[in-house]
Amino acid sequence: RRDLPTFSAQDVSKHSNEKTGVWVTYGIGVYDITKFISEHPGSKKNIMLGAGVSIEPFWHTYQFHKEAKILKMLEKFRIGNLKPEDRISIQNQGNPYDNEPVRNLDFIERSKIPYNAEPHLTQLVEHFITPVELFYVRNHLPVPDIDINEYELEVDITSTGVSRTFSMNDLKTKFEKAGVTAVVMCGGNRRSEMNAVKEVRGLGWGGGACGNAIFTGVRLCDFLTAMGVKSDEKSHVILEGYDRDPTYTPYSASIPLSKALDPRGDVILAYEMNGEPLNRDHGFPLRCVVPGVVGSRQVKWLGRIIIGDVESDSHWQQNDYKSFSPSVDWDTVDFSKAPAIQHMPVTSAICSPNPDHHEIKFTADGKMEVKGYAYSGGGNKIIRVDVTWDQGKTWHPADLVQLEDGENVSAGRHYAWTLWNINVPVEKNQHYVEVWSKAVDSNYNCQPETFKNTWNLRGVVANAYSRIGINLK
Ligand code: MTE
Repeated sequence: RRDLPTFSAQDVSKHSNEKTGVWVTYGIGVYDITKFISEHPGSKKNIMLGAGVSIEPFWHTYQFHKEAKILKMLEKFRIGNLKPEDRISIQNQGNPYDNEPVRNLDFIERSKIPYNAEPHLTQLVEHFITPVELFYVRNHLPVPDIDINEYELEVDITSTGVSRTFSMNDLKTKFEKAGVTAVVMCGGNRRSEMNAVKEVRGLGWGGGACGNAIFTGVRLCDFLTAMGVKSDEKSHVILEGYDRDPTYTPYSASIPLSKALDPRGDVILAYEMNGEPLNRDHGFPLRCVVPGVVGSRQVKWLGRIIIGDVESDSHWQQNDYKSFSPSVDWDTVDFSKAPAIQHMPVTSAICSPNPDHHEIKFTADGKMEVKGYAYSGGGNKIIRVDVTWDQGKTWHPADLVQLEDGENVSAGRHYAWTLWNINVPVEKNQHYVEVWSKAVDSNYNCQPETFKNTWNLRGVVANAYSRIGINLK
């Protein structure tokens, strides 16, 4: 790289918009990334934070950028070298990831920094209520370290100008305690299966980016009603976390106010998960659990609630967690044209046996035991899981394990998952069997047959038939 010209930080700063071209520095490299701006999966707004300056402070927080594939791509845009004396130092910034919680070593890591990991599917499907140590973790930023005695939840209602703060003690003593058994499922769950059809951008989740837990705390409808919030079809509830990016912007997402105020929506400001205080990775001391809705709206380390007439303007609400036609690519995508994912579509996943684990269980009469989960967003019940082992010539209904209708579970309020199992006959000399599953929900929606026709560039809502091929010998 010695043959390339040398630039000063001042030279670079003159290239900070698309008219002048967008230059950035990383280490001693100077890069012209103008052509890449529209392709940045983390949005144009975010990449422009580095325009004309060093991207190192940003990559210090979003450390997943420092992988060989991305560094190699950056190098393609190299136009020169930075004067060594102009190189900025990030040494004094400290490491924002120095204070991460202790974690389950048996997780499958999808990214170390920030931490993203899922359990092995064979373990996940062993429990109707997912133990906390098997519950996937999806963090966009460093985990905040919150002192419960100092913790405050701020609430701002823009229409009335009411603004209040609550301590954890207020939340626990002033409101009735309530709970819900609900799934949290990442919008990118099963992305790796969609990626196998054609490359998508995002963490390579398997089917383990979901879990089913009992969340207890304060019902958001009780909380907002006590604050005088009235039903209004046009308003949104913006939820902000205590985790912040390098520009001090918090993680944020929003849900419609109608969902928040619906007593049957079961939205909970949760301080407990499976009867224990939330742990740090899952949002200690408070997270918003929004049953039936994509995981990204279930904001952890909840710091502020804003009721207003617009959605959150965060990257995660506006420029991520949206799906497009299979023909939309990074040159043509316009995130403002698609609504933010709220309710999740119907899905199922075969979890055991798992081709990666090679552990096959047989019944006494020689049938292969197959187990999985099924789930549909919006409170829809799973009414059937069909399984085939002859490529769809014959389909067989699996046995379902799900919550019975009762006090808090009824039509439109099925927020927990369904576990299912079926025994698949195999011949004595059979070498290989392929098994597919498809779930049907109470709206009679069922999973699409293939990922090909629902492919989208971010690899979200990947809910096609689950298919596994198992070598029996
Ligand atoms: N809340 C905050 N404050 N910060 C985050 O990074 N990640 C979201 C959501 N809430 C996130 C957040 C996403 S994308 C998902 S899928 C779920 O939390 C994951 O929840 P879990 O880590 O408890 O499984």
